Amino acid sequence: MKSSIKETIESYNPRAPLEEAWTIPAKWYIDPQIIDLERRTVFTHSWQMVGRADQVREPGQYITHYLAGEPILVVRGSDRVLRGFFNVCRHHAAVVVTECEGRANNLRCPYHGWTYTLEGELKGTPDFAGVCHFDRAANGLVQVETAVWENWVFVKLESDSVSLDDFLGAHLIEQMRRLNLEKLHWIERRHYTLECNWKVFVDNYLDGGYHVPHLHKGLDSVLDYSQYTIENGERFCLQSSPVVTAGAEAQTGAVRGGERALYYWIYPNFMINWYEGVMDTNLVCPRGIDRTEVIFDFYFADISEQVREHNIASINVGQRIQSEDVAICRSVQRGLRSRGYTAGRLSVRREAGEHLFHRLLHKDLKAGLDSEMS
Ligand code: FES
Ligand SMILES: [Fe+2]
Repeated sequence: MKSSIKETIESYNPRAPLEEAWTIPAKWYIDPQIIDLERRTVFTHSWQMVGRADQVREPGQYITHYLAGEPILVVRGSDRVLRGFFNVCRHHAAVVVTECEGRANNLRCPYHGWTYTLEGELKGTPDFAGVCHFDRAANGLVQVETAVWENWVFVKLESDSVSLDDFLGAHLIEQMRRLNLEKLHWIERRHYTLECNWKVFVDNYLDGGYHVPHLHKGLDSVLDYSQYTIENGERFCLQSSPVVTAGAEAQTGAVRGGERALYYWIYPNFMINWYEGVMDTNLVCPRGIDRTEVIFDFYFADISEQVREHNIASINVGQRIQSEDVAICRSVQRGLRSRGYTAGRLSVRREAGEHLFHRLLHKDLKAGLDSEMS
């Protein structure tokens, strides 16, 4: 018998301590009703990273992104204020800015040529004389809440009272401030498409290094697996490992240094991976029930020509680790569809981050469902 979405959500028990906890049910990864609900709740109410601050430093610079199915535009106005908009024309709903980043003097819709200023006001409407009761001032692009933290631009689709700082929390903000991320410079972006639900990728990230010795032999050789730590914040998890150089696999050892590796996950879908002088971020974008785009940005402290080869070698090590994860995520997604699996247990030593993720998800989905049903 088909169970209702309410039953599906309620079949997870968020009160169980880690020792007794189960994962969220397999159904949450394969039921299209869940991804719709996630769009309306998790991805609507959370602050979402949509691009980098370095992309929108100057007036006219913009970035576009798809968030929860919504086309989003963030642009710096002539007044230097950064604003976010739904990237949707007020005429007949075409996407106004179609490039993923760039610089413009004004924003022209490709469909019938309506133009908007960099501040989102409607300016030009060709062949539109004689239209009665048309209030141009009320037909600007619709704004969306936007804020910048460290190297990143965030938006939130639903306006409520939770600021980006509130969402991230003082504890996380202070930890990241101490890393002096402004000293790192972006050099490259890579996109990966995975054949799995977005939560499979996040679970894989949050398993406290559990899979590392089995799946990532190169990475394993530079991490001290037994010393791996997992620390949950309110809406983030920090996994950390000492970096070891003795006996490291050559390719990985050559590009991963410093004392510790820090792996931050910020609910629901943003990760910051930090080694001394090296950082990459992962933005996990659901593109369907079993399709996920992961956007990687790579940063280095030194981006001079002399170390170019070294930086590329570092990115390639990241790419190899990623391709190892791509295969296992596909395998898990298949397994989640099997009649032979409903949910699993969690390692107390390793999987506290996953437990936090599942409880936060449950909280958002349940609250969303309750408010829709009331
Ligand atoms: S839809 Fe944009 S001008 Fe018509
Ligand atoms: Fe992995």
